Amino acid sequence: MAGPLTLALTRGRILKDCLPLLAAAGIVPEEDPGSSRKLVIGTSRPDVRLLVLRGSDVTVYVRHGAADAGVVGRDMLLEAGSEGLYEPLDLGIARCRLMTAGMAGCAPIGARVRVATKFVNVARRFYAAQGVQADIIKLYGAMELAPVLGLAERIVDIVDTGNTLRANGLEPLETIAEVSSRLVVNKAAMKLRPRLLGELVDGLAHAVACRDAQAAEAPR
Ligand code: PRP
Repeated sequence: MAGPLTLALTRGRILKDCLPLLAAAGIVPEEDPGSSRKLVIGTSRPDVRLLVLRGSDVTVYVRHGAADAGVVGRDMLLEAGSEGLYEPLDLGIARCRLMTAGMAGCAPIGARVRVATKFVNVARRFYAAQGVQADIIKLYGAMELAPVLGLAERIVDIVDTGNTLRANGLEPLETIAEVSSRLVVNKAAMKLRPRLLGELVDGLAHAVACRDAQAAEAPR
């Protein structure tokens, strides 16, 4: 017996936006995963349970098969790589951009740049592709502070409204990637549990299609 299907969700905005899609697919948490202190949460389906994790940990749990599937931002997949994962569905939620940013009105960079980010692999690849040598400083949050205090000339971070950048005197510069949340599935689990995982993919795909059809019909 393989036990219940384990679905790892990314906490925060992705969690909030993916719960209605899960509900439409027939999966309703037994308690509010946004406020519960429980790390494993049962659902209306006895054969499905939820984990609520940081995005970077969702990819780890699903890659190692500790979770069968997950919901995670494309930014995390670009950073961690998609090895061992299928990416069957773009859920179209938590849309934002991975961007470079610097102080408003900052000078263009030269052949070498100091970059603060938690997306070290994304940043290294982006600058390498432009022939720029990037000295990467890994941070775990509040990236916007780095240029203000002279720690780095550029940051690579998620930009949604741009309010955080503006509030700190920064401006968005180059777009590295468009981001939305994806359903990811462990490749081995897909072979071992094709029925349950197939139902999950189909149920969520249907929920996304219904949501998009409703949005298209809604008066503007
Ligand atoms: C993200 C990101 C920015 C902010 C951008 O942080 O790191 O700080 O959102 O959003 P905006 O363009 O709408 O201002 P988040 O709040 O997700 O927390 P994090 O630092 O844990 O990633």
